[in-house]
Amino acid sequence: MKAVHVLNGPNLNLLGTREPETYGLATLADIEARLSALCKPRRIILHFRQSNHEGDLVTWVQEAGRAGEPVILNAGAYSHTSLALYDAIKAAKTEVIEVHLSNVHAREDFRRESLISPIARGVILGFGAFSYDLALEAFLARTEAAGNPPHSKQIMKSVGRGGKLPWQRRKRE
Ligand code: DQA
Repeated sequence: MKAVHVLNGPNLNLLGTREPETYGLATLADIEARLSALCKPRRIILHFRQSNHEGDLVTWVQEAGRAGEPVILNAGAYSHTSLALYDAIKAAKTEVIEVHLSNVHAREDFRRESLISPIARGVILGFGAFSYDLALEAFLARTEAAGNPPHSKQIMKSVGRGGKLPWQRRKRE
């Protein structure tokens, strides 16, 4: 995995002050910083975005699909209403993990249905900001299990070959 897209829908720009008893005190910038700390040592590019407009989310899902890069999506209220996002995810040639900060099943009835869940690779909800970390960990675990170890492990492996770091080896080696 070279890059991951973390897409946030309407009202998530208000995290930190919006209904903290439901969504917690972490801001969207806090969440981005945590994910960035997980991505950086692995040299994974993090595209972290938020919009209050449905069309922006559709465009970004399409972009990720074209690049074949995975998506972590908290579509906010659009999760429950957006056919356009459903269609975009169906068309995208990449995997989408749906996340929610709150446990939507323990809230109002209208939050129980998500149009996205049936076509998502998986759904993680109810763990506050940690839902995002878990989604990223899921993608990372799959990548690393598929024989693409994190950067630090790749270096250690290559040290094993001749005891030198890659940049210490002579060209002909
Ligand atoms: C939410 C849950 C949605 O029902 C709500 O509209 C949101 C946030 C969550 O992260 O818990 O905006 O997606």
